[in-house]
Amino acid sequence: MRVAWLTDLHLSFVPRAERMAFYGSVRAEEPDAILLGGDTGEAPNLLEFSDEIDRNLQLPIYFVLGNHDFYGGSIARVRDLVTRKTAGSRLHWLPATGIVHLGDETALIGHDSWADGRLGDFFRSNVRLNDYLHIEELTNLPKLTCYSTLNALGDEAADYLEARAREALAARRDVVVLTHVPPFREACWHEGQISNADYLPHFSCKAVGDRLLDVMRGYPERSMTVLCGHTHSSGTAKLLDNLTVYTGGAEYGAPRHQAILTF
Ligand SMILES: [Fe+2]
Ligand SMILES: [Fe+2]
Repeated sequence: MRVAWLTDLHLSFVPRAERMAFYGSVRAEEPDAILLGGDTGEAPNLLEFSDEIDRNLQLPIYFVLGNHDFYGGSIARVRDLVTRKTAGSRLHWLPATGIVHLGDETALIGHDSWADGRLGDFFRSNVRLNDYLHIEELTNLPKLTCYSTLNALGDEAADYLEARAREALAARRDVVVLTHVPPFREACWHEGQISNADYLPHFSCKAVGDRLLDVMRGYPERSMTVLCGHTHSSGTAKLLDNLTVYTGGAEYGAPRHQAILTF
């Protein structure tokens, strides 16, 4: 089974003709399924772009959402809308889908995840992501309230992924985790370096990373591959002998596939 991994397509910045050419380039790889790692569009056009990808690829699409997918909306409403509108279709939002079996040995799980503020120095950071202007739950919050809201979003992802990972590892040798936010400092690449203390709080999810480490230390004979994005800079981080994280690169206006994975 051949699976194409895409992330951070940011299709709002890609003219239609170039989007069509991009879909053609993905079809040319002859994948059997697509993994889509978030930041596909923004809240008002997310479903439109999702349908466009579906129409042009006609393959099962397993996806998570990125922070940009909630811009101009709310996290709760976008998640609810995506769950309802994709039910029964080829589009599968992984937090609502649960465990997906890719071949005999591999299980796929996924969650949007969220940069939880815990790595780096959130309280001294001057980074002001558009998240804090364009996502309803994060707009105009005092810094301490913002921090606890980010913590809670990270914890939600960690709870979900730990539970699904343990279930998946009971039945499969390898687990692939699709998520948007890098779960480790070591995977938070920025132009070939690890992001600094200003950026780490907004670009990594420590809660998820801690749980995945804990899970995989208990399964030395099994392996986990994490696919993430969000930083737009590619890199690989090997956290344990059995836990590797690939961070996808991206450039606004130039969507590309990250890799073809074979299971
Ligand atoms: Fe992005
Ligand atoms: Fe992002």
